[in-house]
Amino acid sequence: MTAVGLGKIILLGEHAVVYGYPALAAALDRGVTIAAVPTPAGGSLRIDIPAWDLRVLATDDHPVSRALLAICDELGVGRPAVTLVGDAQIPHSAGLGSSAALAVAVARALLAYQKRPASPKEVLAAANASEALMHGRASGVDVALAMAGGIGVFRKTTGLQPFPSVPLRVLVGPSGAARTTSAMVDKVADATHASADDKRLRELGGLTDIGAAALVAKDLPALGAAMNRAHEILAGLGVSTEQLDSLCEAARVSGAHGAKLTGAGGGGAVIAIAPRDREQAVLTEWKNAGVTGFVATVGGGA
Ligand code: PMV
Repeated sequence: MTAVGLGKIILLGEHAVVYGYPALAAALDRGVTIAAVPTPAGGSLRIDIPAWDLRVLATDDHPVSRALLAICDELGVGRPAVTLVGDAQIPHSAGLGSSAALAVAVARALLAYQKRPASPKEVLAAANASEALMHGRASGVDVALAMAGGIGVFRKTTGLQPFPSVPLRVLVGPSGAARTTSAMVDKVADATHASADDKRLRELGGLTDIGAAALVAKDLPALGAAMNRAHEILAGLGVSTEQLDSLCEAARVSGAHGAKLTGAGGGGAVIAIAPRDREQAVLTEWKNAGVTGFVATVGGGA
């Protein structure tokens, strides 16, 4: 059996969500798949994802090994003699929720291997334990989307409140520049003195409400305007880069309603919303800048 964890994009509210504000986020139509197969001759637990050039033993000194052990401990499955063979349709370290997608897929695969039902509560706890190791102060938005799919508003206190079905085409541009989420979260903590009262965090939270209402009303120009403003604020907090700024600007000049970095920033990916007849122009501009973007249809319902 192959287990799945989906990647995600944050349309609005990243970083502010760590401080309790809402984020508007959507699962991608792609992510990570994992199958647990017995390791020949009962060898030790390992993980092998050729698409990421990743091949580690659970006992290695590697972040993925530590995450794997945290998942095993949380699930109480011991150290089964299996190889977790994976495939990935999203890049890692790109702000697309790859670590949460991996954690959810691994937890589901280990439970399936032990013929235990994949109880959402157990999968959530295991994936959150992995994310806490990978990202430190994680809000949980990535795990919620990796598990549930769909689109909705996430808050740390209430989890994901899904929207029934609001399909949206989003242009995604992985910049190719790797970064660590925890370093970016620390940067925002420094810039805001880790205070939820910071007015930039508050405005980011407000933009989520405006953007969510615009999305439900199918007012894409208003959603795009909220995204543009959010990018400006995130840049002010120090988590954009020249490359991300210029990819966003290229999208706007090509006719996008709006564009912004998505996820932690400092590299990773940008997203844009554009009228259908401008999408190709945006992708071409990104291609000229060395970035192979794609169109993801999100929000089709969980
Ligand atoms: O780097 P990503 O795409 O996993 O996004 C992290 C989003 C943050 O709001 C920066 C952190 C979090 O855990 O919510």
